[in-house]
Amino acid sequence: MESHLDAHIALAMLDWQIELGADEAICDAPVDRYALDSAPPAAAQAAPARAAAAEAVPAAPAADPVGDASRAAAASADLPALRAAMEAYPHCDLRRGARQLVFSDGVPGAPVMILGEAPGREEDIEGRPFVGQAGQLLDRMLAAIGLSRTESVYITNVVPWRPPGNREPTQAEIAMMRPFVARHVELAAPRILVVMGNVSADAVLGKRGILRLRGTWDQAFGRPVLPMTHPAYLLRTPAAKREAWADLLDIKAKLSDG
Ligand code: URA
Repeated sequence: MESHLDAHIALAMLDWQIELGADEAICDAPVDRYALDSAPPAAAQAAPARAAAAEAVPAAPAADPVGDASRAAAASADLPALRAAMEAYPHCDLRRGARQLVFSDGVPGAPVMILGEAPGREEDIEGRPFVGQAGQLLDRMLAAIGLSRTESVYITNVVPWRPPGNREPTQAEIAMMRPFVARHVELAAPRILVVMGNVSADAVLGKRGILRLRGTWDQAFGRPVLPMTHPAYLLRTPAAKREAWADLLDIKAKLSDG
């Protein structure tokens, strides 16, 4: 009887929260509360027993997220293999809070590759990068210089899983995804790489300060790289569109350089 009532109350509280708009986890990483419940209370773990167990069980080798990512990326012979390697990569906790891995969109082998930061809500639902408002602006920007994701552009993100609450990926998350980004660029083989926003500039160039970096060509992964402001920033700051337009014209000029 009591648990029946509890279930009703719990459901009513859940409905109420959903009505308020709380429809997703917003911790840094999802919490498995079943696992928490089944964990023995700290007091039950007697110190001597712990010490004995520690002696008996050899220490597990320390996890090596960046090394594992480098090996998995290097072993990926093509883009489908890289996608499968990322699907199987266990170290990034963001995967546990996301609906799916968002790998890429556009034309592999296209002359222009765009690297964004991480999927947002719409991308998480649809499984394609840059399909929300920022993505629609990106499509209009590309169209203004005769480019499109159906013909001449390949698009991906530094992080393929949506961070909870759209928070910025941490340094550790960026570091562990970097080997996959490097291999992704190598396999997609664009003529030029455009990094949009600070997270992408950080992952590719090891630099932040996109407002200072934008518009100046750099070099990474053996090809020219242009940092640009992120379309989400342009939506919030229309005055910055003027500089973004200059960057787009620069891309067009670079492509016609031969
Ligand atoms: N912002 C990004 O950086 N990437 C996306 O895919 C969507 C929004």
